[in-house]
Amino acid sequence: MHRMTLSRPDDYEGWRDGARAAALAGVAADAIVWQVEGEGVDLFGGAGDPLPPPRLAPFAVSKRFLDLAETVVLHRDPERFALLYAMLLRLRDEPAAIADEADPLRRRLEQLAKEVRRDIHKMRAFVRFREIDGAYVAWFEPDHHIVRANAGFFARRFATMRWSILTPELSIHWDGGSLREGPGATRADAPAGDPVEALWKGYYASIFNPARLKVGTMLKEMPRKYWANMPETALIPELVAGAQARETRMVERIVPRAQATGNAGKAWEALREEAAHCTRCDLYRCATRTVFGEGPVDADLMIVGEQPGDQEDLAGKPFVGPAGRMLDEALEAAGVDRARTYVTNAVKHFKFEPRGKRRIHAKPNAGEIKACRWWIDQERAIVAPRRIVMLGTTAIHSLLGKATTLSSVRGRALELPDGGLARATIHPSFLLRMPDKARAEEEYAMFVRDLKAAAE
Ligand code: URA
Repeated sequence: MHRMTLSRPDDYEGWRDGARAAALAGVAADAIVWQVEGEGVDLFGGAGDPLPPPRLAPFAVSKRFLDLAETVVLHRDPERFALLYAMLLRLRDEPAAIADEADPLRRRLEQLAKEVRRDIHKMRAFVRFREIDGAYVAWFEPDHHIVRANAGFFARRFATMRWSILTPELSIHWDGGSLREGPGATRADAPAGDPVEALWKGYYASIFNPARLKVGTMLKEMPRKYWANMPETALIPELVAGAQARETRMVERIVPRAQATGNAGKAWEALREEAAHCTRCDLYRCATRTVFGEGPVDADLMIVGEQPGDQEDLAGKPFVGPAGRMLDEALEAAGVDRARTYVTNAVKHFKFEPRGKRRIHAKPNAGEIKACRWWIDQERAIVAPRRIVMLGTTAIHSLLGKATTLSSVRGRALELPDGGLARATIHPSFLLRMPDKARAEEEYAMFVRDLKAAAE
């Protein structure tokens, strides 16, 4: 029996090197015990038999498998290293097995990876910082060994703050310039909450209405184990919105500094990465991907459309299909340089109805617009554009916070509820649908006028 000892529970490189050496030496999966230094029961003692020298020709495995392995290693399942090694041996003989969805081993590994990704997402969504002496400290209990792998995300997202995240296995600290690791902590090591949080809790306790409690929704959004970390956790759905407001405020406090210190790009990258895993409404289930905004993070002008269309969904970029071409033409006529404009959408996933082989655009509803407002608010906070153009009623609904007709707001500068100036105009796809050429030309001219006015 051979023994492979890894230096840490998330030691992907250790697993990869050990697995490669064992595979080249022709060692079978059931002839290896994988263990982590300082962990687990010593079943047979001793150092194990040394690996025989390599006797097989080197072989390559796909990046897809290596990515899967890198994620699965973070799982808490003690069998993860052995399962990955068994898969590696399978792929050596049968590389196509990585795409075989019926294969039970591959399915098990995919399931482990899914659980890890979910845990990573939960940490990103549910870490709550408490402020002490200008530094921020959070307590978090992950299900899997994800803390080290997630540290870079927090460093990018909260680049300008000093913060620590304490967890039972490991603590990570960011001093505004570099990450440092420390030993695990206990809940008692984390501060219990500052006066602001006490106020926050008090406020929600006073409006708590048990008749409106929807525990199922709450549990789905925010698993019970995280409630204790979150200052705003009275058990009411409104608190989900409350938590978002808190985080938005925190981001707002950081963002002017982010622009000033040149960190807006990093904050935007982190936001886009987070949005790529968005499940705030059901649209992610059918769309290919999140289509995030695009353009300079210090743009003066932001253009907000409705949602990606079929081509945008495939390309992962906003306004690249027919409506995008119409927009480009009008922008040029208005003297606006798209390359200096931040272009985004009120809703970030393509909503459609399948019809045969085609995907027919469907208008996002009020719930979807509201769910996605989270992203546009943060894009606005980071880019801080001086002017915004809202294309069509979905963008207007999103930014004004309520359904509003275009005719009631067109032609003047509007002050948005949270500050900032915006102008409303038609959506370019409206022009594409107009059968009457003369009217389409008139509408186009008005569209160009609106864009010009917004940019001036
Ligand atoms: N329509 C939109 O509103 N946005 C896009 O990105 C494409 C089409």
